[in-house]
Amino acid sequence: MSNEHPPICDYEGSDYQQTFWDAGEREYEHRVEQVALARLLPAHGERLLEVGAGAGRNTARYQGFRQIILLDFSRTQLRQARARLGSDSRYLYVAADVYSMPFAPALFDAATMVRTLHHMAEPQEALEQIRTTLHTNARFVLEYANKRNLKAIVRWLLRRQSWNPFSRDPVEFARLNYDFHPKAVGDWLQQSGFSIDRMLTVSHFRLNLLKRMIPTGILVALDSLLQHTGNWWQYTPSVFVRTTAVGRDASRPEFAFWRCPLCASLEMIPQEDGVLCSDCDRLWPLVDGIYDFKIPADSD
Ligand SMILES: C[S@@+](CC[C@H](N)C(=O)[O-])C[C@H]1O[C@@H](n2cnc3c(N)ncnc32)[C@H](O)[C@@H]1O
Repeated sequence: MSNEHPPICDYEGSDYQQTFWDAGEREYEHRVEQVALARLLPAHGERLLEVGAGAGRNTARYQGFRQIILLDFSRTQLRQARARLGSDSRYLYVAADVYSMPFAPALFDAATMVRTLHHMAEPQEALEQIRTTLHTNARFVLEYANKRNLKAIVRWLLRRQSWNPFSRDPVEFARLNYDFHPKAVGDWLQQSGFSIDRMLTVSHFRLNLLKRMIPTGILVALDSLLQHTGNWWQYTPSVFVRTTAVGRDASRPEFAFWRCPLCASLEMIPQEDGVLCSDCDRLWPLVDGIYDFKIPADSD
């Protein structure tokens, strides 16, 4: 882990939800991810953290939880999520950086991270941060982009692609967009305090030609069946992993919820207009229903 803050893929002002999902002909991907999440998520729980929640595309899938915290670095994505999900008190919207979590240790009994690890220049550091927010035996469902997928293997064998899909190092195919090797992700998870319970391979048929020729419902049904082979081999572009947080938790005072991302204090006092850190005196504002824990650039 380096001392420098890892770079962040900034979605501020992005129309990702509209262009990638709503108009992007990705009904197949959306539905197979829904199947995988339903299979891996605990049916009930107290408090779930959704890391990199974006515009809340997946949030409605977490209905069994009493409280759902949507964390994203982008305020605009969270505004879109709030417009979609509403101001229901079950949802808490938090603008923050996964590398500087604003939560007390061992707060959550579940977490998810879908289509977000692939933006992490320091994936293990991000996973370690998530682990600190979970208590022992909490469930964490992670989706990652798999560099060792069939299409990449074929392209590499035909010499249409320079990078080796079998090597463990990440491939950055566009700035701050990474594909990872399953074994590397497995190692990072274990070193961060997670044990892997189950893997599902997802999006077996992510090829435009197939998606155009075969009805989506059939592709989804076939993918749903093939997902079960995920514990044996992983050659799809997307892999879902269900893990359990293992090892000991850092202790947490009973009522602590927030943690100051600047000074790490748990002495955080809720105010009408935000949360005040009583150690460093910073007020983290609550604006339009979104708690804003983004550290200003001049705070270093
Ligand atoms: C590809 S989108 C996925 C959104 C959502 N999970 C989905 O599947 O529709 C990735 C999200 O990760 C967020 N993100 C990227 N880096 C982050 C960081 N360091 N901390 C928190 N969120 C981050 C982005 O703002 C963006 O909303």
